[in-house]
Formats: sequence, C-alpha cells, structure tokens
Amino acid sequence: MGAETFVIFAKTTRMSSYKEIKRVTTHTLQEMKNRGEKITMLTAYDFSLAKIVDGAGIDAILVGDSASNVMAGHETTLPITLDQMIYHAASVVRGVSRALVVVDLPFGSYQGNSSEALRSVIRIMKEAGAHAIKMEGGREIRESVERVLSSGVPVMGHLGLTPQSIYKFGTYVVRAKEEQEAARLIEDAQILEDCGCFAIVLEKIPAKLAKKVAQSVQIPIIGIGAGPDIDGQILVLHDLLGINQEFNPRFLRRYANIHQVMTEAIQHYVRDVKEGDFPSEKESY
Ligand code: KIV
Repeated sequence: MGAETFVIFAKTTRMSSYKEIKRVTTHTLQEMKNRGEKITMLTAYDFSLAKIVDGAGIDAILVGDSASNVMAGHETTLPITLDQMIYHAASVVRGVSRALVVVDLPFGSYQGNSSEALRSVIRIMKEAGAHAIKMEGGREIRESVERVLSSGVPVMGHLGLTPQSIYKFGTYVVRAKEEQEAARLIEDAQILEDCGCFAIVLEKIPAKLAKKVAQSVQIPIIGIGAGPDIDGQILVLHDLLGINQEFNPRFLRRYANIHQVMTEAIQHYVRDVKEGDFPSEKESY
C-alpha cells in the first residue's frame, strides 16, 4: 500500500465529526529521501507528550530505550524491560494520529537468537500497536533482522554509538573515527539495507562519514550527532525541551528551558498554597 492510499479517520474534538489524516509510513520516509525533504524524528515515552509532538507535525516518533535513562533514572539503557517498553509504546500510540511510531527492542529481548527477536517484536506489535521496530547493530544481528522482516514488520537499524553495548566500549565518545571502523560501519549499513531495513539511525559519528553512508545507501539515514548531510535528524525530546539539564553533548540544541518554566510554576503554586491564596472562592465549590 503506497503512502498516498494509506489514510485513517481520526476523531476530532467533536465525536460526530471526523477529519481525514494521512499517516506517515515507512514509504513516506523513503519518498521524502527521494525528493530531498528532511525527515524529523523525536523520542516520546508517554501519551501526553506524544500527543503534543504529533500535533506539532513531527514525521516519526521513537519510543526509545532511552526511557531507561529519561523516565526511570537509570545510568544506562540496559535495565529497561520488554514489558516496560510495551507500556511506554502503547501510551505513545494512543496519543498519535499521524506520525510513524517506531519502538526500540530493549537489551536482552533480541540478542539471544532470531526466534527470541521475533517473539519480542510480535508482543510489541500486538500489545502496543507499534508501526515499526528498531534494533541496534549490524552484521551480528543480521539473522534476527531478516527473521523480523520476514514477518512483515518494518525494521529500523541503528549504527555508530549503540548504547546497549556501552560496557563493550566503556565510553560514549564519537564512534568510527578510525578508517577500519568507518569502513565496517559503511558495510553494516549496506547489509542492513540489503536485509530490507526501511531506515537507519546513525548515532555520534563524524559528519563526513555519515554523509558517505547516506550517499551509499538508498534508504533514509537519520542522525543524532551525525552532522547535517543526511536525510533526517532525531533528538531525545527531554533534551530538546531542556527538561534535562545535566546532559550537554555538542550535538544537542535546546529549543526551550522547560526545567526553568516548570520550577517557577511549581514554586508559584507552593507560595500560593502556603499563603492561603490558592484555592480562591472562585476555585472552590
Ligand atoms: O533510545 C533512543 O532514544 C535512541 C535515540 C538516541 C536514537 O535510540
């Protein structure tokens, strides 16, 4: 089914009226790359923020395993479970009418073998209503990628800095600066494309290398810390909004200071309650 024909009927605020909304599909993203239109992607982990992100016109939403850091306060992405990812993903899907929703397979839910990968993916698709999944790795997960794709579920790859392997590398520094690692990364991107992945995320690699990858494959390349010469960009929503103050990598641009806005609003509320100003007569029954 082409992007043009894939429409859904979404409820507007009045239950009796329906508005036609054209959903973003994996085909839409490919068409965007083909015509040189940049793809926008952000993370979301819950209903309310997903609704805002979708309403603002984002093309794709990632229910990232960064929820492990951002929502649960873990140091790495490793602790988050499949059940927890499904909970986040189902909440996001309920808030989205237009964007493509991609869900991360968490650590430990696909590395064992391809049957385990497929079982995890089936749970995410059935229980959360996701549209696609993402897996970290190249040739080493080829069998799992192929098995999942054979079930009809679109797969997004993830190369470069792969946070689920943090203990192998021991650091979050820029990846593939050396020639050998760069050549391997280009080969891995080609392998993922040959398998049938619909797109690849490149995380924290030199901009020149990312450009080379985007030119050497036909599928969309979406970057985070991978420079401007690729097909799209993704950021973690809480970083972009300035909810998190501690994470300050060079690739991050903050578009708001929601941490400050929220702190001031909460301080105002505390003051009003302490001083007996809230609730007023008008705010009481
Ligand atoms: O989990 C995540 O948020 C991600 C992005 C950083 C690409 O994988």
